[in-house]
Amino acid sequence: MDNNLEQLKNQAIEEIKKAVDINQLRDLEIKYLGRKGGELTKMMGQIENFSGEERKRFGAEANEVKKIIIDLFEQRKNEFEGLGAPVGALIDVTAPGILPPEGHLHMISQAIEEIEEIFKKIGFNRVRYPEVEWDWYAFEGLNMPKDHPARDEWETFFIDAPEGEKGKMVLTPHTSNGQLREMEKGKLPIRMINISKTYRRQSDISHVPMFHQFEGLYIDKNVTVSHLKGVFDYFVKQFFGSKREIRLRPYHFQFTEPSFEIDISCGICGGSGKLSDGNKCRLCKEGWLELGGAGMVHPNVLKAGGVDHKKYNGFAFGWGVERTYMMKAGLKIDDIRMIYKNDLRFLEQF
Ligand code: DAH
Repeated sequence: MDNNLEQLKNQAIEEIKKAVDINQLRDLEIKYLGRKGGELTKMMGQIENFSGEERKRFGAEANEVKKIIIDLFEQRKNEFEGLGAPVGALIDVTAPGILPPEGHLHMISQAIEEIEEIFKKIGFNRVRYPEVEWDWYAFEGLNMPKDHPARDEWETFFIDAPEGEKGKMVLTPHTSNGQLREMEKGKLPIRMINISKTYRRQSDISHVPMFHQFEGLYIDKNVTVSHLKGVFDYFVKQFFGSKREIRLRPYHFQFTEPSFEIDISCGICGGSGKLSDGNKCRLCKEGWLELGGAGMVHPNVLKAGGVDHKKYNGFAFGWGVERTYMMKAGLKIDDIRMIYKNDLRFLEQF
């Protein structure tokens, strides 16, 4: 091999082998292979001084040296980038790792799972029924005949489809349709929890057109308001914490008699309505938060479901999942639509 070429090759190999990091390696790459002024590049230019056989030989040798040097660069680059590096020398196994991002269930899915588990422990089975439903299950069978003014409260989406025997088709405006669907099965006693999507024609800072409710129904012999109270007390203590209290306020629903609204004591002020600095609590009204409706199932509803109302009675309740979850977190979200905007900065917090 040409002497100068041989010398340059040996020098380059030695220096490349000695390089201690990727920066030194890059400098050496420029030093030897740089397009202008690289030592090997310059030497390859000397081919002009040769002719004939010599020119051919020099060309072949120079190309061989170039290949050796490029391969060596590649090999050492891989080492520095971690591939094939001697363990311990280039990988610091004690360095803290970078965790890949990990997703989790949406806050409302988590809440649904939790609610389901709590009720399961006292024998309430989770059921599901159609979300595109007949008017009869959503209203009429629940003691709300056609044109009854109470229907206005449920700002219902109607489906553009022919009317059937059971009236028009609607998107379930509440989970109470599950009461009739469950009774219809004809198996008593009933302990069900129906958790489902519900739809209403409302969208503003405190409403989303699609939300979730959970509906409980207990039908047996000699059921009393005390049973209802006991179940709520259990649920509230499990879901919100052992210090939370409930109270029943008289109310009106067509499908229950008597009817109640259930309040729970506020978790922020502990039920006093005041904070330790004497200011009014920002979350509640005088120590209580309104959760949802409940009551003793109306005899007309039992009849509609084919249950003998002289032998059996029961209680029912229906609460919003979103609302219940926000109360657990002590949250007052300025705009409830945030829950469904898929903004990870918000959702990651739950
Ligand atoms: N369905 C009612 C609503 O959407 C909530 C409700 C109230 C359900 C009382 C019940 C009940 O089962 O007994 O506002």
